[in-house]
Amino acid sequence: MMNALFVLLCFLVTASDVLAPGIEIGIKDGKISCLGTSLPRDASTEIIDAKGAYVTPGGVDSHVHFQQDNSPTGDNWVTGSRSAIAGGTTTVLAFASQLKTEESVIPCITEYRTRAKGRSFCDYGFHLILTNPTPTIMSTEMPLLISQGITSVKLYMTYEPLKLGDSQLLNVLMSARVLGFTTMVHAENSDIISLITNRLEAAGHTDPYFHAISRPQIAENEATYRIISLAELTDTPILIVHMSSEIAMEHVRKAQTRMLPIHAETCPQYLFLLSERLKGNEKDKFEGAKCVCSPPLRHDPRDLEAMWRGIANGTFTTFSSDHAPSTYDHAGGKKLGLKDGIMRYRNIPNGVPGVETRLPLLFDFAGREKDSRLSLQRFVQLTSSDPAKLYGLEGTKGNIAPGYDADLVIWHPEAELEEGVVIEQKNLHHGVDYTPYEGMIVRNWPRYTILRGKKVWDRDNGGILGTQVDGKFLQRGKGRIVVGKTGQEVKGMLAGERDYWY
Ligand code: URP
Ligand code: ZN
Ligand code: ZN
Ligand code: ZN
Repeated sequence: MMNALFVLLCFLVTASDVLAPGIEIGIKDGKISCLGTSLPRDASTEIIDAKGAYVTPGGVDSHVHFQQDNSPTGDNWVTGSRSAIAGGTTTVLAFASQLKTEESVIPCITEYRTRAKGRSFCDYGFHLILTNPTPTIMSTEMPLLISQGITSVKLYMTYEPLKLGDSQLLNVLMSARVLGFTTMVHAENSDIISLITNRLEAAGHTDPYFHAISRPQIAENEATYRIISLAELTDTPILIVHMSSEIAMEHVRKAQTRMLPIHAETCPQYLFLLSERLKGNEKDKFEGAKCVCSPPLRHDPRDLEAMWRGIANGTFTTFSSDHAPSTYDHAGGKKLGLKDGIMRYRNIPNGVPGVETRLPLLFDFAGREKDSRLSLQRFVQLTSSDPAKLYGLEGTKGNIAPGYDADLVIWHPEAELEEGVVIEQKNLHHGVDYTPYEGMIVRNWPRYTILRGKKVWDRDNGGILGTQVDGKFLQRGKGRIVVGKTGQEVKGMLAGERDYWY
C-alpha cells in the first residue's frame, strides 16, 4: 500500500452514473487504482475524507487562451493555470497561433510549448490555430505534430488576420479526414460583420454596445450552416466552438439527427450574460468593454434559454470557458478601445475570463432537487469526459475508473455551504482585474482539486497547494468522434460519388 491515497465516503459521479454513497477511491502512483468499499489501507495511506460530498472527474477545459501574442495583458501560463485548478480544472487545451506570414508552424509550436513548460499548475495540451494552411504544412508538418500529440486545429471564418476562405476550409477538412486530426471552427460570417462595423463607425456608433449590433445572430447562423455543409461534403467530423445562437444550434441539431459527426461547444457567457452588459454603468460607460467577446452576448433571455436546452438535450458535446481575458484597466488591455475619450469597440480585445468559474457555474444547475437543468452525469460529460474523448485523452482523463489519471474535484458536502458561494474577483486566481460574474451566487465550489493524486487546491486550508511545475504536457492521441459517424451518403449525391474526386 505504499504511496497510496484514498478518497473516502464520496458520492462518485461519472459520465454514466452517480454511485451509491460511501464509495472509496484508491489512488496509486497518480492513477486511480480501485473503487470499492472498505478498501485495505495501512499507516502510510493518506486519507482525504470527502464527507459524503460529490466527487467528479477533474475538469477538462478544451478552449482556453493563455499567453497568446494577441492578448498581452491576459493570463500567462502561471496565472491562467493557477486559476484553472482553483476552479477544479486539471487539464486545459490552449492555443498556439500561426501568423499568416509563417510558412512553417514548427517554430510557432515550439515557441508556445516553451511558454508553458515549467509554468503550469495543471496538465495541458495545444490546438494549432491554422491561418495559412500551405500544402507543405498540411502534408508534412501536420503528421509530425500529430506524432507529437498535437492532434487538433482551430480554423477561423472571421477576423482579418486569422480567417480562411471556403477553399482553404475545404482543403483543411479534406486533410483532417485523411490524417485524423480534430477540427474546431469559429463560425461567423466575416463580410456581414465588417460591412455592419463600417456602417456603424460611419454613423458614429462605436460604444461597446455596438459590438453586439455588429455581429448579429444571422452571421453565426450562416457560417454555421456553411461549415456543416463543407464538413458533410468532405465527410469530416468538426466541432463548432462557442455557439451562442439558437438557429445555428438548430442547424447542428438537424445535422446530428442525420447522424453527421457535427459537434458543438458552448460557454458560460452564453448561458448567463446578456448584451445589456455591454452598456456599462452610469459611472463608467466604457465598462461594457469587460463583456466584449465573440460571438457577442445576445439580447434576449430566450437566447440563454435556448443554449440551456442544448446543454440538457445533448446538442452540445463540450462546455468550455473560452477563457480569453484582457485586463480592463490597462492601456494595452480592454482600454485599447478608449482613446482621447472616444470609445471604439473595434479596438477592444475580444474575450472574457472564465476558466475558474466554469465548473461552479454549471454545477449550480446540475442534479438539483428543484429546477435542475441538467443531470450530474451530463455535467461530467460536458465538462470533462466528452472533451477528453473528442481531443484524444480517453483512457487518461475525464473519468473516475481504474487506470485513469487520478484527477478529481471533491466538492463541499451540499449541507456545508447553505448560503452558497459568492463569486468575487478578490477570490479568483487569474491575472486580470475583473470577472463578468461578480456577485453571482453558486451553490458549491471545489473544496479540493486533485491532480494525478496530488492535492493542488484546498479551499479551506491554504488555497493553492500545487506549484507551477506540477502540470505536464499531454501527448494526446487522435480524438474520437463522440456524435454521429463518417462515411454517410450525401443527399442528392450518388453513393460513392465522392470517390471520383477524393
Ligand atoms: O471573444 C473571443 N472569444 N475571443 C477569443 C478568440 C476566439 O475567437 O475564441
Ligand atoms: Zn473563436
Ligand atoms: Zn476562444
Ligand atoms: Zn503593463
